[in-house]
Amino acid sequence: MALYSEKVMDHFRNPRNVGVIEDADGVGEVGNAKCGDIMKMYLKIEDDVVTDVKFETFGCGSAIASSSMATELIKGKPVADAMKLTNKAVAEALDGLPAYKMHCSVLAEEAIQSALEDYYEKHPEKKP
Ligand code: FES
Repeated sequence: MALYSEKVMDHFRNPRNVGVIEDADGVGEVGNAKCGDIMKMYLKIEDDVVTDVKFETFGCGSAIASSSMATELIKGKPVADAMKLTNKAVAEALDGLPAYKMHCSVLAEEAIQSALEDYYEKHPEKKP
C-alpha cells in the first residue's frame, strides 16, 4: 500500500485556499517544536459563518495537505462547526495519514482553534 493516500497527494500538490486574508477577522499561528513546522490560518467570519479561510504552511507535505483539507472542511460552515473540527476528522477526510504523521493534522486543528480564539478576543460579544 502506498504510504500516502491519493487525497493527501492531491492536496499536497494542489493545495486549496493558500494565501493571506489581509482584513481577516481571526488569525492563528501555531507550530510544532519537534519538527519546526509552522501553520498560519486566516478566517473571515460573517453572521457566525466562516465565509473565507486561507492558510500559509511552512511545513511537511502532510501539514500542507492537512491545512488544505481543513480549510475545505470549514469554508462556508457555521463557526460552531469549525470549533468542533478535530484533527481526526481532517485525517479521515484525507483517507488517513501514517501514524507518525498524525501530528501534522493536529497542527491544522490547533491553527483553526487559535484563529477562532483571536476572533473571539476581538469580538467578545460573539463568544458562545
Ligand atoms: Fe511536522 Fe508534518 S512533520 S507538521
